Amino acid sequence: MPNHDIERLKNLLGTHNDFPKKGIVFKDLFPIFQDPVAVETLISNVVHHINSTYEEKIDVVVGLDARGFLLGPLVALRLGAAFVPVRKQGKLPGECVSAVYEKEYGQDVFEMQKDAVKPNARVIIIDDLIATGGSAGAAGELVKKCGATTVEYVFVMELGFLNGTQKLDAPTYSLIQL
Ligand code: ADE
Repeated sequence: MPNHDIERLKNLLGTHNDFPKKGIVFKDLFPIFQDPVAVETLISNVVHHINSTYEEKIDVVVGLDARGFLLGPLVALRLGAAFVPVRKQGKLPGECVSAVYEKEYGQDVFEMQKDAVKPNARVIIIDDLIATGGSAGAAGELVKKCGATTVEYVFVMELGFLNGTQKLDAPTYSLIQL
């Protein structure tokens, strides 16, 4: 991705100290969505990266609750892939696969509809930010439980000092390192 594109997107991000808890510097993706040209830059760079890295077709884009729901469908549409959401436990109807993950305080459970991702499907997992990698790792487990393959994890932002990518079982791509 060209450096000037990264700088433009970086400059649009919001920064909120002590949100949602004391000590956390929260990076806010939403200002990018106020600027359609920036959204176009973001999505076309992700799609270009995927198309130029992987020859074989991507079947499914899995987006994580909640900001992955904004990015995922835009990327999926351009790849000609399905979009499938991963949600917090109890939100999805029908038979689901589930995976537990560690948060800063305690645990949470992610679910995905079992029939939405077919065995052997090639999957991209997308979210706005990787911190400790717990939630993305749980999404990877869900993909595996369906018998499918995670080709890559894609993030807009990476908090590199937390080493979250080391928890993941496939390559990762992050537009912005923080
Ligand atoms: N999720 C986990 N850590 C975060 C942060 N610092 N900013 C935004 N989202 C987050």
